[in-house]
Amino acid sequence: MLQRLGSVEQMDVLDFGCGSGLYSRLLKERGARRVVGYDEAEGMLRYASRREEKERRGIEYTSRLADRLEGQFDVVLGVYVLPYASTREGLHAMCASMSRLLRPGGRLLTLPIHPAYEGDPEYYRPYGLRLVSDRPHEEGGAVQLELSYDHLCMMRPEHGPDWATAGHVQEER
Ligand SMILES: C[S@@+](CC[C@H](N)C(=O)[O-])C[C@H]1O[C@@H](n2cnc3c(N)ncnc32)[C@H](O)[C@@H]1O
Repeated sequence: MLQRLGSVEQMDVLDFGCGSGLYSRLLKERGARRVVGYDEAEGMLRYASRREEKERRGIEYTSRLADRLEGQFDVVLGVYVLPYASTREGLHAMCASMSRLLRPGGRLLTLPIHPAYEGDPEYYRPYGLRLVSDRPHEEGGAVQLELSYDHLCMMRPEHGPDWATAGHVQEER
């Protein structure tokens, strides 16, 4: 992803669906001038903001795409967020929101799902996930994400409340 992105030196970048802020932090490290992380899940933003309070990288986090953000960015990055749209109309609306944020000539870079996506639901079990579908896998087909908190060995107890409000158990397309 970062290779495809190329240099972000002195660029203004919006990380759409920033989650815990992983990419937002990487973008800042790579010299982006302004990084705004946007996510609709308050729990994820709380985690990202807490890290920002400690680390002071100069990243802004927001749960609302205010009008003043429109046309302000050289790059909009959307990693693993497009599949959250549960209808085609929802997908169009998300793409339209992303493109409104760009300056003329700006770039929208998204990774809808990992290129090595594995259709077997049991494949992700060791990581505490199951991706299940009641129909054979097809482009645009619905997939249910199941999380098992017992398996999340990387999760520390203090993250519990944030994960619980992060809205992660939902229907994906
Ligand atoms: C799988 S996470 C990926 C997080 C981050 N991009 C990463 O790669 O680490 C997807 C995130 O997108 C957020 N999201 C889903 N739909 C969204 C929307 N319409 N607007 C903003 N955030 C959204 C979710 O709350 C979640 O935090």
